[in-house]
Amino acid sequence: MLATPVIVVNYKAYPQATGPAAVKLTEALERVAHRAGASVAVAPGLVDLRHVAEATKLPCLAQHCDPIMPGAGTGHVTVEAIAAAGAKGSLLNHAERKLGLEVTQASVDRLRHVGLWSLVCAGNVAASRAAAALHPDMVAVEPPELIGGTVSVTTADPLIVSAAVRAVKDLAPDVRVLCGAGVKAGKDVRRALELGADGVLLASGVAAVAEPEKALLDLLEGLR
Ligand code: G3P
Repeated sequence: MLATPVIVVNYKAYPQATGPAAVKLTEALERVAHRAGASVAVAPGLVDLRHVAEATKLPCLAQHCDPIMPGAGTGHVTVEAIAAAGAKGSLLNHAERKLGLEVTQASVDRLRHVGLWSLVCAGNVAASRAAAALHPDMVAVEPPELIGGTVSVTTADPLIVSAAVRAVKDLAPDVRVLCGAGVKAGKDVRRALELGADGVLLASGVAAVAEPEKALLDLLEGLR
């Protein structure tokens, strides 16, 4: 499992984090994470996953996968395929790639079957509890309206973080809880940990900025 506290950087489909830029970005983030001795994981786009995984020791997560068995499945991405590409796990049910509970459960189970981790995203406290009931490795609570914004969930809605942490841990104490949406600075990371989270899931604050190394350095301050 990912060492916690952890910062997971989702590259989404940002052009600054796609293609050759995804590899360059990852190398830069790895330098910073390594120097700080911090736990950082990255989630590049599926097409870039193998290239990124081959270029780094940082744990790589897929942004999505499908629970279908290998075989006839045009356009689907199996857990075996992401494992072969070097992924250690996968995000599931991101607000931008919703799956529904049944498919998410099937994906969690398939990932576990091949020895990969699952990080299930949820938009609120009830959804976090429902996600925890699927027994993934991690749940990330991210209010959709704050995603990509300038105000961190830890400032805009700290209660959703602490309540999601409680809801998940009451049901499944081993499941790690991350929070995300608008997380951009060390103070946001610090607050997330104070609220009981095991780390943060973020994107634009690192994957869509001119100086990602500087951005990650600031974020890592929050882990101290
Ligand atoms: O997966 C991370 C995410 O949805 C939050 O995005 O840009 O608000 O950090 P962002």
